[in-house]
Amino acid sequence: MKALTYTSYGLPDVFKIKDVPKPSPEDRDVLVRVHATTVNRTDCGITSACYVVSRLFSGLLVPKKNIPGTDFAGTVCAVGKDVSDFCVGDRVFGFHDEGLSSHAAYLTISEGSGIGHIPQGIDFAVAAASLEGAHYAYNFLKKVDLGKGQKVLVHGATGAIGSAITQFLVDRGVDVTATCRTQHIQAIKDLGVTRVIDYTTTDFTQEDAKYNHICDAVGKSSYRQCRPLLSDGGTYTSSELGSYGANIWLAVLAPLLAPLTRNTKVVFPLPTDVKGSIMYISEKLTDKSFVPLIDRCYQFADIIDAYRYVHSGQKVGNVVITYTQ
Ligand SMILES: NC(=O)c1ccc[n+]([C@@H]2O[C@H](COP(=O)([O-])OP(=O)(O)OC[C@H]3O[C@@H](n4cnc5c(N)ncnc54)[C@H](OP(=O)(O)O)[C@@H]3O)[C@@H](O)[C@H]2O)c1
Repeated sequence: MKALTYTSYGLPDVFKIKDVPKPSPEDRDVLVRVHATTVNRTDCGITSACYVVSRLFSGLLVPKKNIPGTDFAGTVCAVGKDVSDFCVGDRVFGFHDEGLSSHAAYLTISEGSGIGHIPQGIDFAVAAASLEGAHYAYNFLKKVDLGKGQKVLVHGATGAIGSAITQFLVDRGVDVTATCRTQHIQAIKDLGVTRVIDYTTTDFTQEDAKYNHICDAVGKSSYRQCRPLLSDGGTYTSSELGSYGANIWLAVLAPLLAPLTRNTKVVFPLPTDVKGSIMYISEKLTDKSFVPLIDRCYQFADIIDAYRYVHSGQKVGNVVITYTQ
């Protein structure tokens, strides 16, 4: 089968498309023929090892898995003898942030891990695009109690995470203010937000506004900058660790800092329950309250160009790869 391969960490020049043996499923595994996947920030982070911490699971000096890829949508073409939840022919999708080797024509995945059935009426490209950003977005939301009438600011609402969290919040009746650049204002208004701030002309941190929660979905702000905008007891989340891992330390020390910060705090989610995320995403795709934002689609033969594009920092939402087999 064709697969994207790499043997050392680095930018997209390290990749080669090669013919490799098709994997075979173990007793609890499902063999999936991949129809669509994405190139996302997690893939770029793992393969470039730009965050040294990712090497702890992906391999200290060289990658343990030589085929990248963290998400997929496809059809089951074989199952191990102990598999009970999936059958040959099922349309499935899944994600794992430590890598699933999904940038290949086939992959195997344990039925107990991050795999679920694609809801009816959802095509493979949309299913693949609905996983990574939405998984992180859902995990951010699980850590904070937000509902009707509360005010939230989402910084970077056109990202994969930002566009998913914005839709999940709007669906809960939250009053959402979102930031993006000028050319994306209409796309963000279409997600149902109350107000859009063009970050190229207005610095939201300088405004006289109050929010119950600020979600920085692109890691471009800090708790220190945002704290004056949080109402008493308000929370701040960021998709990045922050300078010197500040967001982790501030989250750990939050109970001690509370008397000094009007009970505002940093919350740092550790997204572990992928199966739970897939169930939530499936519900949202089914009731149409979530439609993943898709930027570009590439054929598998051009996947290295897709990596170059995602590394450029220009992507909006999700970059999908489709396979013609
Ligand atoms: N914590 C985790 O486990 C985890 C996992 C995956 C990703 N991440 C991190 O999460 C972040 C978002 O990932 P993603 O895939 O959602 O990103 P993405 O799709 O690449 O989103 C990038 C978005 O950032 C916006 N942006 C760029 N510069 C900005 C600025 N100065 N101010 C405000 N918005 C700006 C852009 O919006 P416009 O086009 O409108 O400018 C663009 O749509 C990345 O930093 C990534 O490293 C974290």
